[in-house]
Amino acid sequence: MKIFLISIFVTLLLATCHGNILFNEHGSTNQIFPLRVKIGSGGHYIQEVSCSSWRLGVEAHNVINWKTIPIECEKYVGNYLLGDQYRADSKVVNREAYFYVKSLNLSGDGKDIWVFDIDETTLSNLPYYAKHGFGVNPFDETLFNEWVDLGAAPALPESQKLYNKLLNLGIKIAFLTGRPLKQRDITAKNLKKAGYHTWEKLILKDTTIYHGKTAVTYKSTERKKLEEEGYKIIGNIGDQWSDILGTNIGNRTFKLPDPIYYIA
Ligand SMILES: *[C@@H]1O[C@H](CO)[C@@H](O)[C@H](O)[C@H]1NC(C)=O
Ligand SMILES: *[C@@H]1O[C@H](CO)[C@@H](O)[C@H](O)[C@H]1NC(C)=O
Ligand SMILES: [Mg+2]
Repeated sequence: MKIFLISIFVTLLLATCHGNILFNEHGSTNQIFPLRVKIGSGGHYIQEVSCSSWRLGVEAHNVINWKTIPIECEKYVGNYLLGDQYRADSKVVNREAYFYVKSLNLSGDGKDIWVFDIDETTLSNLPYYAKHGFGVNPFDETLFNEWVDLGAAPALPESQKLYNKLLNLGIKIAFLTGRPLKQRDITAKNLKKAGYHTWEKLILKDTTIYHGKTAVTYKSTERKKLEEEGYKIIGNIGDQWSDILGTNIGNRTFKLPDPIYYIA
């Protein structure tokens, strides 16, 4: 037992030292070759470097149309989502959105509306993805719908703060989601349970009208309808580029982090 514990201790110590060496390299005590390929002992690529570059590529919409995350990035993505960084990144986006909206001179005519996507924007499916490889596995509609039908998705805390602040400023809320119409009741229930108590619109996808259409087309069309009803989309926030590309996107758009899946 003692030997076992000691060997665990030594392993942890080695792991920590290894981490510190990496950290020092990043902390650029060595400024001469800042762009050199980072390699670990034995000349192997250090996975974290390529996974963080991959994530940046995804967020900047350089890496597109991917079906699953790189298999070697499962741990990296898991650590990102369950650690502090995901929350911190979400906070920056939501705070910027708030600073923007505070700077506006709103008419106060009750027609100012803010569009929120739902999954990974308003509600988090992290409990589901934590059990299914953080995006390593291809999307499984049956399993995912079983999770949705539980109505147990928690709120994303930083998005919820923005939601509350917008309501306090008298701005209406539209939820615009790719979830199908048949999930309307459970989605409404889940939103309320998670603390989103009110909204002007809850728009789900009519899969007969939008069958075979992209999310960009669906969301653009629905936003256009909102504007035709007289709403002014002052802001639009989502975790997918397809939430904020297309037409009628709103006066400003905000992209939340999502390294787990890509929807065109
Ligand atoms: C905001 O709108 C009011 C009323 O239209 C106007 O008097 C005021 O100058 C505006 N302020 C800014 C900063 O645009
Ligand atoms: C939004 O954009 C439209 C069109 O450019 C502009 O007329 C309007 O003043 C903008 N609204 C806000 C709140 O910035
Ligand atoms: Mg989403």
